[in-house]
Amino acid sequence: MGERRYSVVEAGSGAALELRERSGTAGPNVLEISQLYRNQGVFTYDPGFGATASCSSTITYIDGEQGILHYRGYPIEQLAEQSTFIEVAYLLLYGELPNPDELAEFDLAIRTHTMLNESFLRFFNGFHHDAHPMAMVSGVVACMSAFYHDSMNIQNARHRDIFAHRIIAKIPTIAAAAYKHSLGQPFVYPKNKLDYCSNLLHMFFSVPPAPYEIDPVAAQALDLLFILHADHEQNCSTSTVRFAGSSGTNPYSAISAGISALWGPAHGGANEAVINMLEEIGDRSRIRDYVDRAKDRNDPFRLMGFGHRVYKNYDPRAAIIRRMCHRLLEKLGASQDGPLFELALELEQIALKDEYFIEKNLYPNVDFYSGIIYRALGIPKSMFTVMFAIARTVGWVAHWREMVRDPESRIGRPRQLYIGPAQRDYVPVDRR
Ligand code: CMC
Repeated sequence: MGERRYSVVEAGSGAALELRERSGTAGPNVLEISQLYRNQGVFTYDPGFGATASCSSTITYIDGEQGILHYRGYPIEQLAEQSTFIEVAYLLLYGELPNPDELAEFDLAIRTHTMLNESFLRFFNGFHHDAHPMAMVSGVVACMSAFYHDSMNIQNARHRDIFAHRIIAKIPTIAAAAYKHSLGQPFVYPKNKLDYCSNLLHMFFSVPPAPYEIDPVAAQALDLLFILHADHEQNCSTSTVRFAGSSGTNPYSAISAGISALWGPAHGGANEAVINMLEEIGDRSRIRDYVDRAKDRNDPFRLMGFGHRVYKNYDPRAAIIRRMCHRLLEKLGASQDGPLFELALELEQIALKDEYFIEKNLYPNVDFYSGIIYRALGIPKSMFTVMFAIARTVGWVAHWREMVRDPESRIGRPRQLYIGPAQRDYVPVDRR
């Protein structure tokens, strides 16, 4: 493609600056504006970064108009159908699908890093029993930097690998400990012979006095959900990890910042909010009222699990999860969730036919159906966003690693349009 150049002419002086347009492999081109302030004395203004590329990246590609999602070039549908979460983790971290030896080595590295230092368990005991698991998980992940400072030189490739293995391996153990603490049950140690998702189910649901059989259908469903949640380019939490990491802080602190960003209901917290909303609606006769509320500008209520900054078409992950819901509820015979799923399907149909949602291109997103699956697996609502965080840790780590090695990367430091008071003189308190 021939390179286009845009000219920005400064009002008054008439000085011109040529802006270079850069092309990627796919997606819109970008205009390089880094010289704009130095040459023309103006900033760009883009609240929420709707038109701003904050970095270049080789990891994930989304075409929001077409509803396309690729990890390292591979369509999400193919990965969901044929791959595993651990293989996808390798792909996201290292850029290529592993050969059998590479996969075995990576899998072993993750399986053998699952234990937590015993001192961590004392942190959990310090939390109130009804603390939200996201609060515990973000706090404990930040504390990992107090344990692994021997291998936190971010310029050292081996240290970066050790960090990646540790955080990906230990985050399910941390999540399970948070869950067990909330129940008042003893912590369950990981078992290295189990695969990633079976181990998670074991740590969540087994108790010392009784045998626990891991349901392979449940482990497979979780593995698929984790593949779908593993990365999503420069979303709010990933940008937070990159932003925090850009100061050179240790990677555990950067990931902890990402977990906090994910917690919000506009982001990963939506899966919990969707179930709350469906429970509140309760009956199909009330769906219309809620859809009307979502359309009312004077009502802050939004249809949770609907809409997306990038997708202006059906979120491809939601399409896969929706199909999975049908299969899973049939297989697990999760009768208590059947009605909730039916309600969700009906709500979707009503919203998709509604002029407001059509006009604004609002479709179900990844979180609309994921909570129904988590519930069918016996995972409580308060843990839904934690499950998202476990999967997304892989994406956060991949982006953090890319950022650290990117020669163009600089500390994140946006500017502003100042609209506060102009300069004025201080008035002593007795004269005010
Ligand atoms: N219900 C009703 N109206 C909506 C909704 C919704 N769920 N989402 C967007 N709109 C309206 C919004 O009011 C706005 O209307 P207007 O143009 O009249 O002001 C228009 O659609 C555009 O929305 P926006 O808020 O400017 O879009 P955004 O890109 O800033 O926000 C979003 C995207 C995901 C935060 C938003 O759609 C939303 O709040 N959805 C519900 C929460 C949710 O499901 N979040 C999960 C996102 S996917 C997983 C993840 O990121 O972790």
